Amino acid sequence: MTLSDLNQLLAVRHSCRAFLPDLVPREQIEQILTSAARVPSWCNAQPWQVVVTSGDETDQFRAALQKEAMTGAPAPDVPFPTSYSGAYKDRRRACGWALYDAVGVERGDRAASARQMMENFSLFGAPHCAIITSPKELGAYGALDCGGFVTAFSLAAQALGVATIPQAAVATYSPFLRRYFDIPDDRMILCAISFGYADKDHPANSFRTDRADLSEIVEWVG
Ligand SMILES: Cc1cc2nc3c(=O)[nH]c(=O)nc-3n(C[C@H](O)[C@H](O)[C@H](O)COP(=O)(O)O)c2cc1C
Repeated sequence: MTLSDLNQLLAVRHSCRAFLPDLVPREQIEQILTSAARVPSWCNAQPWQVVVTSGDETDQFRAALQKEAMTGAPAPDVPFPTSYSGAYKDRRRACGWALYDAVGVERGDRAASARQMMENFSLFGAPHCAIITSPKELGAYGALDCGGFVTAFSLAAQALGVATIPQAAVATYSPFLRRYFDIPDDRMILCAISFGYADKDHPANSFRTDRADLSEIVEWVG
C-alpha cells in the first residue's frame, strides 16, 4: 500500500449532494462500518454508536425530518459555531458559493439559498442515513474520536464507490432525532452521514472544494 493509493481515495471523495435511489447492499454497509471502526480513539473507548436507515425507513425519516425543519426549533446537542472569521469565513464563503454557482443560486436570492439549505433535510435524496452519537460523559474527546470515524466511513464508502455527505444540519433537530430513533439522553447526537450512489450528472455534484496551502496551516518548529 502506498501514500499514492490513499491520496487517490482522498482526492476522489467529495461531499455528495444528489443521490440516486438505489440501495447499497447490507454487506457493503457492514464493510464500511467495520473499516470506519478501525480508527483510533482515546483509551480505545470506540465511543461511536450508529443508527443506519435504509430504503422505506429512510423515506419515512426524510419526510418527518423535513416536517420538523419547517416547524421545529433548532436545538443541536453540540452548539453550532457562533461565528466564522478571517480565513474560516473566507473558506466557508468559497465553498458556499461554489455550491450556489453549481446549482444556479444567484447572489442575494435568499429564497433560492433557503431552498438549497432545505435539501439537507431531504438528505439530498440519499437512500441511507447514518446518525452518529457519542456518550456525553466522554465530552469533546468522544466527539473528536467520532470525527475520525466519520472520515474513515466516508473513505471506506468511497473505496466501494459509495458516495457520502456528513451533515451537521441534521443534528440541528437533536430532540426530534432522539425521539424518532429512541436515542438515550446520555448520548450526544453529533451529525448524520447520508450515503448511497452519486447522481453524477446533477449540478450539485459538479464542483470540488480546494484546500489551504501548508504554509497557512503549519507552524514548523525546528
Ligand atoms: C462534521 C461535518 C459536518 C458537515 N455538515 C454539512 C451539512 O450539514 N450540509 C452540507 O451540505 N455539508 C456539510 N458538510 C460537508 C462540508 O461542507 C464539506 O466537507 C466541505 O465543504 C469540504 O468539501 P468536500 O467534503 O466535498 O471535500 C459537513 C462536513 C463535516 C465534516
